[in-house]
Amino acid sequence: MNNSNANQILLQAESIDKTYRIGTRHLPVLRNACLMVGSHQTLAISGPSGAGKTTLLHVLSGLDRPTAGRVYHRNTDIYAMPPSRRTRWRARDVGFIFQTYHLLPELTILENVMLPIVASGGRMNDAARQRSTEILERVGLAERLDHTPSTLSGGEQQRAAIARALVNNPEIVFADEPTGNLDTATGENILRCLLDMAGQAERALIMVTHNPEIADRCDRRLHLIDGILSETD
Ligand SMILES: Nc1ncnc2c1ncn2[C@@H]1O[C@H](COP(=O)(O)OP(=O)(O)OP(=O)(O)O)[C@@H](O)[C@H]1O
Ligand SMILES: [Mg+2]
Repeated sequence: MNNSNANQILLQAESIDKTYRIGTRHLPVLRNACLMVGSHQTLAISGPSGAGKTTLLHVLSGLDRPTAGRVYHRNTDIYAMPPSRRTRWRARDVGFIFQTYHLLPELTILENVMLPIVASGGRMNDAARQRSTEILERVGLAERLDHTPSTLSGGEQQRAAIARALVNNPEIVFADEPTGNLDTATGENILRCLLDMAGQAERALIMVTHNPEIADRCDRRLHLIDGILSETD
């Protein structure tokens, strides 16, 4: 039997500080945050508004360089990569569901979902179109492929953003309040989709949620308060 996946660390954050600078003012948001994420783990992060949850996801996913500390994907320091390599890494190995969706307004939903395939070096061919269509069907948007984002409801945009994050079957999915705009049944469907994905070997899910019931369904529960990241059993 091969147990090598069980203890495999996919992501590791060491002593992360993040301080925003606004003019001469310094706003410390993250202080000495440390985290290890293993294969097929699901993590829920909660904390008050403004605590730094989105900032933490941005730092962990290669979107925003920390003021101090390092983030490793497997053994690679992601902020030591040249920017173009980090961009490709993000497109291939990371899925990010933004709190505010960030769909490109001039593209259709299908084109938005195909973007990570192209950004990670794939072709915009029939296979990419088929894969993107399948994932859009999975989140219940089969009838909306040709819509642009502005012609979708908030919950539909959220589901399109989820499809885009999952289309490359990435190793690590970061989800910032992914069910915040969805009714209970649709939210449950999306949550199952995310948890199923993360349950596979060499996959992980790091999700911000204010909902304790959703947090309870994750393997690990973390809290971010006053810039300090802690974990409860
Ligand atoms: N680019 C930025 N420049 C300056 N300050 C910022 C920037 N981004 C976030 N902040 C500040 O950092 C703090 C943390 O913001 P963040 O968005 O990470 O909070 P959050 O925990 O995700 O909150 P919410 O639950 O409301 O989404 C806030 O006080 C915010 O005003
Ligand atoms: Mg946030």
